[in-house]
Amino acid sequence: IGIMVAIVIAAYFVGNISPSTILAKKHGIDIKKEGSGNAGTTNALRVMGKKAGAVTLVVDVLKGLLSVVIAGLLCGQGCAMLCVIAVMLGHIWPILYKFKGGKGVATCFGAVAGLNILVALCALGVLVLGVLISKRMSVGSMLAALSFPVFCWFLEPDFIYLACVLALVIIIKHRANIARLLHGQEPKLSFFDKEIK
Ligand code: G3P
Repeated sequence: IGIMVAIVIAAYFVGNISPSTILAKKHGIDIKKEGSGNAGTTNALRVMGKKAGAVTLVVDVLKGLLSVVIAGLLCGQGCAMLCVIAVMLGHIWPILYKFKGGKGVATCFGAVAGLNILVALCALGVLVLGVLISKRMSVGSMLAALSFPVFCWFLEPDFIYLACVLALVIIIKHRANIARLLHGQEPKLSFFDKEIK
């Protein structure tokens, strides 16, 4: 049990690692004060360009994936599931960054891929479709989050409660996006919007 607690705490701190915050500092800006103010891939792309967006995406996915895979190998599936929660908490509410993190989409994808790659890929398919149709990352992200319990229902019923909690957290973290969408003020993903770099 001691090693399990240590692994879960470690996963929380791995979640704290924030590539977008670190890259923004290198660019001389504060990611929390630029664009949407979110420490995540979409905002890194928005305010720092494609390279920073790609690095943020890869690191945020990997920290979820590695935490869960390593936990699973060392302590089994129960521990891996706890680490999904821990790495998400660490990413969204990082103690090292005054509890101001990201919305958890990329990290959730990596973490879920560590549990069941098929479920993660199905949700990714929903995200891509949602983004292509709406041209807004937030719409794709929220649709993917909502689809996650549905895919679990069919493919991995053991994860259904976990999936519901994660979907709820991701939707709550998008409340500012929801308000902007309702007011027609949510910006398009910069790939689709030539006015933004
Ligand atoms: O994953 C975050 C994305 O869904 C929205 O990001 O920066 O547009 O709020 P942002």
